[in-house]
Amino acid sequence: MFSIKQNHTIELRSTRLQTLDDFERVSDRLRSALGARRLVITEPDPRRVTIRVIYEEALQAGYAEERFFQSLSRPHDFSSLPFAIDELGQEVCLNFHEAPHLLGAGTSGSGKSVGAQALLASIVTADGPKRLFLVDPKRVELSMWGPLAESHATTAEAMTATVEAVRAEMTRRYEVMDERGVRKLTDNPALYEELGGTCVLVVDEVAEVLAAGGKEVGQALSSIAQLGRAASVLLLCFTQRPSADLFGKTTGTETLRSNLSNLIAWRVLRRPDVDVILGAGAASDDGKDASAIPSSMPGAAYCSFSEVMVRTPYLSDERLLDFINREKGHDFTIQG
Ligand SMILES: Nc1ncnc2c1ncn2[C@@H]1O[C@H](COP(=O)(O)OP(=O)(O)O)[C@@H](O)[C@H]1O
Ligand SMILES: [Mg+2]
Repeated sequence: MFSIKQNHTIELRSTRLQTLDDFERVSDRLRSALGARRLVITEPDPRRVTIRVIYEEALQAGYAEERFFQSLSRPHDFSSLPFAIDELGQEVCLNFHEAPHLLGAGTSGSGKSVGAQALLASIVTADGPKRLFLVDPKRVELSMWGPLAESHATTAEAMTATVEAVRAEMTRRYEVMDERGVRKLTDNPALYEELGGTCVLVVDEVAEVLAAGGKEVGQALSSIAQLGRAASVLLLCFTQRPSADLFGKTTGTETLRSNLSNLIAWRVLRRPDVDVILGAGAASDDGKDASAIPSSMPGAAYCSFSEVMVRTPYLSDERLLDFINREKGHDFTIQG
């Protein structure tokens, strides 16, 4: 009966003999009996136990570009942004209504920038208006998106100016919202449209940005992370230095980390890095050991919004350029 060596899910009704604890106690034996690589056992509700049986690398083949673009063509908004597939081959979306902002980390070459591109593709095809701001110290990673953004900052000066501009926009939004008695921008669709929809600030290599811009930039980013949500201002940060000292007093970012609630760990070099990114115990207790992701699988990651490993799509430059050219002018506010 267990000869199907394909990833699958077993659903069991809990009885007194089949509680989550019972299964966890025997999970190692069950895993080897099934010849599976990994079991993910959860209890979606008190009456059910779900066992996901994961064989070999379902993610090895990657997330086909074609399938991703198909997902993008379906209506989606900031509560359902197509982003990755998981080990069971299912699509994983980001929900920025449920949890604001994002921190993505991983060693060099792990797939952060490619992941950022996928997320950008998802964002620009989302329903409704949006405004895009890019901070890109590496200068090339996000340059393709320049035509769809209000700024693509690559120098220390421009990066500081861009982050400040987004903070100023957030403050302006709060002023208008106060005047009109609106507490959360998405509660008032007309005003949401009027103010330009969701403002997205993407910061690649945040450690470099903080090193170049200093406390001023750090405080502005922290303030956006703390207050942005109600004003529909989103901060997406990527870093290859997920060390514990990245966020702290010297850069004015002691509150930044805790306000970034969507967390992604691509491959990291050391296991303790996982806990810095995903939270204490992620590697040991939740089985999200991103230091064990093979370097042959760039784009594979563990994240806060999936129990199992995910992989983002790899989008070819050619296809992306074509896509961006088609998107230009759609729902975008580009202000002088
Ligand atoms: N999701 C993916 N699927 C397949 N290959 C990928 C994926 N993400 C990245 N790669 C490969 O890995 C390389 C490095 O990815 P990149 O996003 O630039 O890494 P990082 O920004 O973390 O340094 C890419 O040029 C690509 O060849
Ligand atoms: Mg990169």
